[in-house]
Amino acid sequence: MIKTKLAVFASGTGSNYDAIVEAIRTNQLDAELTILVCDNPNAKVIEKAKANGTPMFVFDPKQYVDKAMFETKIVEVLQEASVDLVILAGYMRLVGPTLLQHFEDRMINIHPSLLPAFPGLDAIGQAFDAGVKVSGVTIHFVDQGMDTGKIIAQEAVKIEENMTREALQQAIQKVEHHLYPQTIQQLISRGE
Ligand code: GRF
Repeated sequence: MIKTKLAVFASGTGSNYDAIVEAIRTNQLDAELTILVCDNPNAKVIEKAKANGTPMFVFDPKQYVDKAMFETKIVEVLQEASVDLVILAGYMRLVGPTLLQHFEDRMINIHPSLLPAFPGLDAIGQAFDAGVKVSGVTIHFVDQGMDTGKIIAQEAVKIEENMTREALQQAIQKVEHHLYPQTIQQLISRGE
């Protein structure tokens, strides 16, 4: 069987990248991670990908005239690697039309809140400051908006009385690390 080829996009720590690599290694996710795309040459995730031997495309957006230029390059890289599904995992950038038109319905994102609540940056801090009693994790298809695409999966996290912001972050990350590989596997099994 030919495996589904994934590209993971990350800009930072890469704990979701780690979770996906681990799920593939332990056969919980039947896919091949063909490339890591990273827009931050100083990101921690690069060290992890080096250690794992994941092929990488690392770029500095400042070296390109505009978003259309670097997204054109990304499309080339993804097509060369025959990528089937793009997994945004902490890619801190709004995807533009150049990339979207090639991967619409084949690009998903993870967001640390129950969308449509708390889109955008620091969703965990937003939920914490709002004093809500429940937040969580959303996985959704990517469209041109900020965290607005069709929702695929959600899991709630209860915010206990006296819970610190750090504890909430840990609880949300714990959910992310099982929900993302599991949802990717479901999409693959359904042939989406
Ligand atoms: C995650 O919380 C994810 O929901 C958000 O960015 C964060 C990335 O964390 N989109 P990591 O780099 O995977 O550790």
